[in-house]
Amino acid sequence: MARILVTGAAGFIGSHLADRLLARGDEVVAFDNFDPYYDPAIKRRNLAGALRSPRFRLVEGDLRDRAAIRAAMEAARPDRVVHLAAQAGVRPSLQRPQQYVDVNVTGTLHLLDAMVAAGCRRLVYGGTSSVYGASGQPPFRESDPADRPISPYAATKRAAELLCHTWSAIHGLRVTVLRFFTVYGPRQRPEMAIHKFARLMLAGQPIPCFGDGSSVRDYTYVDDILDGVVKAVDHDEAWGVYNLGESETHSLTELLALLAQELGVAAQVDRQPDQAGDVPATCADIAAARRVLGYDPRVPLREGIARFVRWLRDELAREAAAVDPARGR
Ligand SMILES: NC(=O)c1ccc[n+]([C@@H]2O[C@H](COP(=O)([O-])OP(=O)(O)OC[C@H]3O[C@@H](n4cnc5c(N)ncnc54)[C@H](O)[C@@H]3O)[C@@H](O)[C@H]2O)c1
Repeated sequence: MARILVTGAAGFIGSHLADRLLARGDEVVAFDNFDPYYDPAIKRRNLAGALRSPRFRLVEGDLRDRAAIRAAMEAARPDRVVHLAAQAGVRPSLQRPQQYVDVNVTGTLHLLDAMVAAGCRRLVYGGTSSVYGASGQPPFRESDPADRPISPYAATKRAAELLCHTWSAIHGLRVTVLRFFTVYGPRQRPEMAIHKFARLMLAGQPIPCFGDGSSVRDYTYVDDILDGVVKAVDHDEAWGVYNLGESETHSLTELLALLAQELGVAAQVDRQPDQAGDVPATCADIAAARRVLGYDPRVPLREGIARFVRWLRDELAREAAAVDPARGR
């Protein structure tokens, strides 16, 4: 049993991680500011199960507040930290770059300093495939250059990786960086493709699709990501960087067809021009994660979409019941 501080623990991936760590007997200290990027009420619901555990503690705090994360770290004295808090999202980062720098870069700096001050030496950092940019040739390897980000989101997430490396060199922090490839599943952020598309399809509304539908992504089911994160939490090394993806790609057109089939509705597509910041393709080379961490993703897109749609139907029923209690009976 370990005590693990998880930043961003109220979010999509973080809340699943908290549940997973609690289920195996760890203590979890969650640090999250319930940022309004999407409805904070969703994040409170994400933590409903975790809050029932006596081994779970929630600290509401902002990583931009140096004293807040220092105090949380001093009080918790965790064995390990998993850093998932971030301003996520590529497109909004073009509108609000300063906020992305403040949270993703300065916030990470505050966290690293707080770890050193509290004598916590082990960090797992939640990075992103966006750091590979648009110029490389997929599948991406960890040894590929990640020095040409094309969005403020990617640049700030890469800057945070570099800070982690610097703190490992200067202060002996032992850091594993995990680069996640488009994660989906229950609790997925509502503005992300799959979640957003599914709700629009069910409402009979057109789906804004950027580009001609040929852009491809390595969609990774959240349970597979969690397996990788937990394996990294249990691993110890001075420094390591690993891709976590399914290592399979699907075009936007294929994704829409799969979703429409699972939902039993037709997709109306509203074609929009390519968006600045979006990369044309992602695909993970996961050989290093398999070899070193024992990562072994198992959920193909069709199965993952089916599981996501089951969850979404339950969510929609719950939302309808909240608006009109008679429908929930
Ligand atoms: N979801 C994906 O497909 C994906 C892909 C690649 C990388 N990632 C990375 O994984 C991590 C989690 O992503 P997610 O999809 O779960 O996002 P999310 O937005 O659901 O979760 C992020 C959490 O961080 C919290 N947070 C934001 N700013 C904060 C601050 N200043 N102080 C404290 N907490 C703050 C938010 O309230 C939220 O609960 C992020 O670091 C993201 O960059 C996600």
